[in-house]
Amino acid sequence: MIELSEVVKRFGGFTAVDHVTLSVAPGEIHGFLGPNGAGKTTTIRMIAGLLKPNAGRILINSHDLMLDPTAAKRSLGFIPDRPFLYEKLTAEEFLRFHGGLYGLENRDGLSDRISELLELFDIASWRSELIESFSHGMQQRLVMCAAFLHRPAAVVVDEPMVGLDPRGARLVKDFFRRMSRKGMGILMSTHTLEVAQEVCDRISIIHRGRILASGTVADLRALAQSEDHALTPIFLKLTGGEGLQEIHETL
Ligand SMILES: Nc1ncnc2c1ncn2[C@@H]1O[C@H](COP(=O)(O)OP(=O)(O)OP(=O)(O)O)[C@@H](O)[C@H]1O
Ligand SMILES: [Mg+2]
Repeated sequence: MIELSEVVKRFGGFTAVDHVTLSVAPGEIHGFLGPNGAGKTTTIRMIAGLLKPNAGRILINSHDLMLDPTAAKRSLGFIPDRPFLYEKLTAEEFLRFHGGLYGLENRDGLSDRISELLELFDIASWRSELIESFSHGMQQRLVMCAAFLHRPAAVVVDEPMVGLDPRGARLVKDFFRRMSRKGMGILMSTHTLEVAQEVCDRISIIHRGRILASGTVADLRALAQSEDHALTPIFLKLTGGEGLQEIHETL
């Protein structure tokens, strides 16, 4: 669904993403875990087509992002960490505009789809309100509605739980699981192992632009138990229930 091979991004002399290879299968929720500055957002922005890699290849739903960007982007829903919304539009106007970007019209059942998603994310009563009156968490929910509107094959989401209250976080986790059961591939970045463990089928750990390990939590545990693996100090911290801040400090 989402495949990266040997993807590199440099900013001047600094390599933010260093030969990242990772794949998200249909029906898989893949956690992208790493400390601040690890390269998660940079990787995700490349997948969304907002940043051009210096090297490597990105496939979305088998479409090469470089060779066939329109087909690749049509297959993808993108939820950024800092969403940009048009504040003078209502929720419905924004979703209609967003649907229009993907060629969706009323005859495609756009109105019903908008209603369905606003209900799902529990903001249906805000349908006709201006976005400028939305709280951060409500804006986050609206961005999620937009990302799923065109029924993408794959979704990439940068820190989905930030700013959501427990009910919002629960809604999102349940929705992701339901979508993955229908075959969608989801890549989500997070700082929280707890979130990754609860929601994700597999996890990739990124540090200083490099993938240290990928696999199920059980796979990673086995790796960490093998001697001298770079993951060991991280995983000891992870399994000790401490946050990534502490993990970062050990590296
Ligand atoms: N436009 C840019 N120009 C220069 N350096 C950048 C740029 N964007 C990102 N970087 C650098 O690339 C590195 C990776 O940043 P990135 O935002 O991808 O990290 P992250 O894993 O998303 O971190 P966080 O958990 O804080 O969101 C950082 O050192 C950052 O300073
Ligand atoms: Mg980030």
